[in-house]
Amino acid sequence: MSALILGIETSCDETAASVVGRDADGRPLILSNVVLSQVAEHAAFGGVVPEIAARAHVEAITGVVEAALADAGTGLGDLSAVAATLGPGLVGGLIVGAMTGKALAAARGLAFVGVNHLEGHALTPRLTDGIAYPYLVLLVSGGHTQILLVRGLGHYERWGTTIDDALGEAFDKTAKLLGLPEQGGAAVEKFARGGDPKRFALPRPMKGEKRLDFSFSGLKTAVRQAAQAVMPLADQDVADLCASFQAAAADSLADRIARALARFGAEFPNLAEPVLAVAGGVAANAAIRLRLEEACRTAGVRLIAPPLKLCGDNAAMIAYAGLERFEAGRLDGMDAPVRSRWPL
Ligand code: KG4
Ligand code: ZN
Repeated sequence: MSALILGIETSCDETAASVVGRDADGRPLILSNVVLSQVAEHAAFGGVVPEIAARAHVEAITGVVEAALADAGTGLGDLSAVAATLGPGLVGGLIVGAMTGKALAAARGLAFVGVNHLEGHALTPRLTDGIAYPYLVLLVSGGHTQILLVRGLGHYERWGTTIDDALGEAFDKTAKLLGLPEQGGAAVEKFARGGDPKRFALPRPMKGEKRLDFSFSGLKTAVRQAAQAVMPLADQDVADLCASFQAAAADSLADRIARALARFGAEFPNLAEPVLAVAGGVAANAAIRLRLEEACRTAGVRLIAPPLKLCGDNAAMIAYAGLERFEAGRLDGMDAPVRSRWPL
């Protein structure tokens, strides 16, 4: 019988639990994947409020863990280990998940594995598609914009990161400053569908730069200035601004990725199948996916874009990272601390 891991994720505004194991052929198997979003709790405040998030995790965690075990048809006694996100993220929420995981492990005499949230995203293509090391990951979420070389379990090289805002954050702020009725990047994408991406000439930050970093704060400012110039905003103006912003962001991203793929090809010329995997909530954006597909096609690289439920924050990726760590004997003690900042 292969190892069976309960994973717990509480680093931001999702309370999540999942059970992951392997099938008879050793392929990863997601037995359950429960995600309870707190979006409604934070909506009135225009962003995630740490204190509210921590309280909401306390209220939700027991039910979410029970649901994950029930969906998987497993009891605590069937588990090999409990994995929980120890960082990076909001400390109040991290403590809730870590303490829950440790308590369950201690009560049942199970191993405990502390997982870096970013490692969860980085290993997702192995969970979904069984990708072999090494491969490249583009992590684009509300808190992170990074290009990672994944050499092996615990061996990550950050090739590029944002020097200011994360891409998801730039989408979120754009939605807010344009007064969209719904929050976040998904709303920008929706409005962009009816817009002209060429109407506003917005900057393509970092385009052509040798280093593989990103920058999105200037783009966001440019959107604000463009919006101010056409005030009051008609619906078409909003759609055009969304489309222009999205095109500029996708263009900047595609440029950075093309450069990263070239470096990847030069460093690993003999891979049977070079892979770029995307992770993070922004990977849901169809316009961005399209540009990434183009860049990958040009470079002869396979693009892996996991299903949306596994792109955004979830506990299956934490359970899976826990599974790899458990199998490698990399366990943690009950004294493993949570960390608000924790670079890979
Ligand atoms: O990975 P995720 O669920 O949570 C973390 O930030 O860790 O990512 C959420 C981010 C938010 O900034 C949200 O606006 C963005 O992903 N996002 C999108 C889309 N859907 C979600 N950005 C652009 N287009 C979308 N369709
Ligand atoms: Zn995340």
